[in-house]
Amino acid sequence: MATNPKTPYISCLDLFKIYKAQDLEVVALRGLDLEVMPGEIIAIVGASGSGKSTFLNILAGYDKPSAGEIRVGERNLLHINTKEAEDYRLRNVGFVWQQTARNLVPYLTALENVELPMILAGFKAKYRIERSKELLDAVGLSHRLNHKPNQLSGGEQQRVAIAIALANEPELLLADEPTGELDSETANEILDILKNLRDIYHTTIIIVTHDEAVSASVDRVVVVRDGRASAEIVSLPDFRRPGDMSNRTSEFILVDSSGRLQLPREYVDNLRIKGRARLVMEEDHVVVYPESEG
Ligand SMILES: Nc1ncnc2c1ncn2[C@@H]1O[C@H](COP(=O)(O)OP(=O)(O)OP(=O)(O)O)[C@@H](O)[C@H]1O
Ligand SMILES: [Mg+2]
Repeated sequence: MATNPKTPYISCLDLFKIYKAQDLEVVALRGLDLEVMPGEIIAIVGASGSGKSTFLNILAGYDKPSAGEIRVGERNLLHINTKEAEDYRLRNVGFVWQQTARNLVPYLTALENVELPMILAGFKAKYRIERSKELLDAVGLSHRLNHKPNQLSGGEQQRVAIAIALANEPELLLADEPTGELDSETANEILDILKNLRDIYHTTIIIVTHDEAVSASVDRVVVVRDGRASAEIVSLPDFRRPGDMSNRTSEFILVDSSGRLQLPREYVDNLRIKGRARLVMEEDHVVVYPESEG
């Protein structure tokens, strides 16, 4: 694992993913830039079809980008072969799916489900059982060890899924809408558990979510628009009121290494910008005007 806290654990530069279906090409990622520091917990939000799952699948080694650079720790994910990708998924990445049923084997107990990835990785039974109990305890399920998935609530199943994802001590935990099938109270509990696990295990965590309230539980929210990281929402301490730890969030637009930035769709629509705009440099800021008529 990248131990230097100043070196990003994940580094993506100008990432493209083009899906080809018969004669049709879909550009799912178009020049995505993103860096994530070791132990950081971030959320990715964005409209349906903006490329969130595509990005997560590439990070998990399920899919390969079409172009660009993507590094996770020492690995270059553009060049890993199938065998390396399998090993990476087993030992270095944990994945939690939205569909609770997809995360668990239905005929195994919670404890056996968490043991499974450790069996595949070749760990001995004594260690497996100890680690499974520790993880199920960390997600608040030490009283549910011998329950099967159909004897657990949706929120409990997702907690088991998180324990499974962490079984092999991955450096990276990815969750694609892990709270999508849960009510908002249970969803908040899951987000708090993820944050707590990051504090215990220092796992780098990326959560894709539609949950508006997520910024309270993560270090940073990255807004993806049309296959690019377009803006970031971060919590800032309010310096005007010393000691006040209440969350004040601030949204920043991202400017990539070529100076490109993306105006939100509603700004473009409201100003009726069509193809061209005028930039005026002021002393310490820039103003964007729609192209004036005539
Ligand atoms: N396997 C595939 N083959 C062809 N096109 C695909 C494939 N997977 C995704 N796409 C397309 O790529 C784009 C991005 O899809 P993606 O699933 O990453 O979006 P998303 O942000 O996760 O959306 P949602 O919030 O609905 O889950 C969409 O236009 C989608 O139709
Ligand atoms: Mg998706």
